[in-house]
Amino acid sequence: MAKVWVDEASCIGCEACVDELPDVFQMKDGKATVVNPEGASLDEIKEVAEACPTESIKVEE
Ligand code: F3S
Repeated sequence: MAKVWVDEASCIGCEACVDELPDVFQMKDGKATVVNPEGASLDEIKEVAEACPTESIKVEE
């Protein structure tokens, strides 16, 4: 199973990932956090990771 996480140091809290995949990401203290890495397909998560303006979403297969 792939590992998905958010680098909280670089996340600027733009909420794009939460808007796109609310089953996977949620906001916590102004930063995104992964609540369920299986809440979407890996392809969907990769797309959101590419769309993150600060490249804070990390995917390790
Ligand atoms: Fe943060 Fe990127 Fe999501 S900046 S809120 S991880 S889209």
